[in-house]
Amino acid sequence: MKKILVTGGLGYIGSHTVVELQNSGFEVVIIDNLSNTTIEVLDNITSITGIKPQFEQIDLKNKEDVQLFFKKYTVDGVIHFAASKAVGESVELPLFYYENNISTLTYVLKEMIANNVYNFIFSSSCTVYGQADELPITENAPTKPAKSPYAATKKMGELIIEDTTKATELKSIALRYFNPIGAHKTAKIGELPIGVPQNLIPYVVQTAAGIRECLSIFGDDYPTPDGTAIRDYIHVVDLAKAHIAALNRLIHNQNKANCEFFNIGTGTGISVLEVVKAFEKVTEKKVNFKVVDRRAGDITAAYADTTLANKELGWKTEFTLEDALRSSWKWQESL
Ligand code: WQD
Repeated sequence: MKKILVTGGLGYIGSHTVVELQNSGFEVVIIDNLSNTTIEVLDNITSITGIKPQFEQIDLKNKEDVQLFFKKYTVDGVIHFAASKAVGESVELPLFYYENNISTLTYVLKEMIANNVYNFIFSSSCTVYGQADELPITENAPTKPAKSPYAATKKMGELIIEDTTKATELKSIALRYFNPIGAHKTAKIGELPIGVPQNLIPYVVQTAAGIRECLSIFGDDYPTPDGTAIRDYIHVVDLAKAHIAALNRLIHNQNKANCEFFNIGTGTGISVLEVVKAFEKVTEKKVNFKVVDRRAGDITAAYADTTLANKELGWKTEFTLEDALRSSWKWQESL
């Protein structure tokens, strides 16, 4: 049975990926420093799959601990989620973001190579494209100057990995996520609400639940059909399954280059207003909202061309926007 290290494996996307790894017959060991999650997620994963992942509470900023981990465990691959991901926070704390997202990446890669572990899946983001010139966005679209330190760490991360695959036997797949939403059907894992939600869906859900007074829609003067910004909202379980497909591609040496990139989205662009309306329809809950100014740094529209992932990974989305919104509400009700 192949054993996979999942860093950040108790986080939102990490935990859903651990469940799918276990469902696919992999053994999992998780590293998490619990800075943005709670240890209960480990039990919640176990309650879904019946298999308790091995767990090490390690902060990847501690190089020695990373070295000790690879002495203690033999793994066949690494899926690397551990990073900070709040765009606004990254503007206020750039040095923290560079240390927490970049230094840690170099320590993990270094110890992988030192221990002959060569299969690496990287959590990247469509944010590397900025406002793409053409939609839908393909993997050949040029990356744009980062608009936040968070986005810069994703672009830099890809560069570090690409250079490392050229100089060593490392093989890597970077998955460029669009907008992950939703929760596992059991409502035992989901996006943990810590503080005021920065992302749209958690804010919509908390407004419907009466936790938030009113959703602010950041601008309705974009050049889009209804004036609000367009994104590609993908169910987190579909996203998790893309990681299994990517991992299998490397393990079975089906990769066509030692550093590959795939856009992981639904291929459909949805506006903010359309999200609100779909949520109200699916949950029969009202979402109070008001339109305010645009949020600095936001782009007008982004949605994926998923042809490459469909073809090369043999992966496609199975859930609809409504499925994802329904699961978000069920998750909120379980909290
Ligand atoms: C979606 C849309 C907002 C909140 C970012 C990162 C990306 C990834 C996901 C980490 C936008 C609008 C939002 C609100 C609103 N991050 N909105 N009111 O900005 O597309 O992507 O989060 O993994 O890398 O760039 O996602 O959910 O913040 O915003 O109107 O209260 O909803 O303006 O148009 P975004 P988001």
